[in-house]
Amino acid sequence: MSVHQETKKVTTQTLRAMKQQGEKIAMLTAYDYSMARMVDAAGVDIILIGDSAANVMAGYTTTLPITLDQMIYHSACTARGTTRALVVCDMPFGCCSDPALSLQAAIRIMREGGAEAVKMEGGAAIADAIKGILRAGIPVMGHLGLTPQSVHQFGGYGLRAKESAEADKLVSDARLLADLGCFALVLEKVPAGLAARVASEIDIPVIGIGAGNGVDGQVLVLHDMLGINKDFKPKFLRRYADLNTIVTDAIGHYVQDVRSGDFPNSDEQY
Ligand code: KIV
Repeated sequence: MSVHQETKKVTTQTLRAMKQQGEKIAMLTAYDYSMARMVDAAGVDIILIGDSAANVMAGYTTTLPITLDQMIYHSACTARGTTRALVVCDMPFGCCSDPALSLQAAIRIMREGGAEAVKMEGGAAIADAIKGILRAGIPVMGHLGLTPQSVHQFGGYGLRAKESAEADKLVSDARLLADLGCFALVLEKVPAGLAARVASEIDIPVIGIGAGNGVDGQVLVLHDMLGINKDFKPKFLRRYADLNTIVTDAIGHYVQDVRSGDFPNSDEQY
């Protein structure tokens, strides 16, 4: 495993240059200080405080219940553990439709949450909100395809933009987000060919999750790629560790040692 030695801060300009130079962008989620320190030290370029915190940190089945205050808490913890990566925080459900409300939310995420950019789910429908946030000097990352905050509208978490009408709408939304001034775009769970087409047609970095290898970078949920949740096994996920087994075994070992009287031994006491 290679650990990134360079400590130069990643900015939205760095990411644009990476796309121009054909250098792939690595993005991961984090939600707390200790994990953020490890993710940052390993050389990830963008750390996302995803609203997937609702799933992996809080145990909800959708991302809808997480509140703005909770996102700000996770963002502030993560930002304190990050020195190199760009810190991007999701705008939670309900914050993106009304321009005035979304501007207030974005300002709080930056000011109290220590984020350096916000991510917003949606295309043309939220263009006015995006414009207002950009006008305030806050960088915006777009998110199209499977946008989990719309799960009830979609009727599930299946592949998006399989049909040409939805694919055409996605391409026009992606162009719009780039034209508005978003600095990057996440494409989630869409056909690889479509994602590659979008990445070649717009000049901002396109980061995929379940969108194939023809895009400018990849993002995964940290808990999924570390194998913390045994049951989540979508086709696009590659597991880089089996932390569920490692952590459960270690804790089981500790319980045994306490029960048998083996811990603490004479070297582990004062
Ligand atoms: O909330 C999240 O973790 C995300 C990523 C899956 C892109 O939006």
